[in-house]
Amino acid sequence: MDQYPGVGRVLVIIPTYNEADNLRLIVGRVRAATPAVDVLIADDNSPDGTGRIADELAAGDPAVHVLHRPGKQGLGAAYLAGFAWGGEQGYDAVVEMDADGSHAPEELPRLLDALGDADVVLGSRYVKGGKTVGWPWHRHLISRSGNLYVRVALGMALRDATGGYRAYRTPVLDKIDLGSIASQGYCFQVDLAWRAHRNGFRVQEVPITFTERQRGHSKMSSSIVQEALWRVTVWGAAARWEALRRSAAGGGPRDARAEARQRTHQSS
Ligand code: GDD
Ligand code: MN
Repeated sequence: MDQYPGVGRVLVIIPTYNEADNLRLIVGRVRAATPAVDVLIADDNSPDGTGRIADELAAGDPAVHVLHRPGKQGLGAAYLAGFAWGGEQGYDAVVEMDADGSHAPEELPRLLDALGDADVVLGSRYVKGGKTVGWPWHRHLISRSGNLYVRVALGMALRDATGGYRAYRTPVLDKIDLGSIASQGYCFQVDLAWRAHRNGFRVQEVPITFTERQRGHSKMSSSIVQEALWRVTVWGAAARWEALRRSAAGGGPRDARAEARQRTHQSS
């Protein structure tokens, strides 16, 4: 089994829905950029035949695997199934990557190297050195306001909590109770960042260049934006309520990092 230095066995999960024109290219780029990592394609029975292409790729390369899912159930559900598969197979870290080329596999070593002393690494468009290429103004607006709202509502200092190019050490996923995740659309990304943050894990952002797809179509929709908006509002309200309850009970503000450190000491 190939190991990535400082991390171990790595699985890149690529969710797909109608990515027939992109899949071969992206898998080829991942295998060329980081030959030590494996790939799992999580396809939701795409009508355009993406699943068949995935099978061909897997047949020709033992490092490529496919998860066929019965129908379109959203990005979140596809990743949860991929994480479960990766956990069963004993990977040390899993990576999220879009199939459409927006996330450059050539930048993957930067994410994995940062995982050397972090638990979660977020590829970030909004830290120094990061950028977005080719987006229309309304996508910039949605993304910028979404991230601003996340910072205000959740009080989480991340610059790009909605991005979809990330690496997690597997124990993080074991700890954050994936079974209770209800997020279906892109707010799945915020959900995971928020859970990792609250559990005191080290979340680090590294700059990436996000390049808008050349082929196929985005699955972004107004219902995806609405889901993100109401869920983030509910999480923020719950966190505030919890903080109030704790201070009324005489405890100080909750310090998840200190608690996590304590747990680590207890278990060692
Ligand atoms: N299996 C599966 N099922 N895959 C899906 C589904 C689904 O229901 N919906 C989308 N995908 C896959 C796409 O095929 C693609 O590989 C990836 O998820 C991202 O989908 P896009 O439709 O290309 O997303 P986007 O470019 O609009 O949004 C990107 O940026 C957002 C942040 O601004 C993604 O990276 C999002 O995750 C991210 O939140
Ligand atoms: Mn895209």
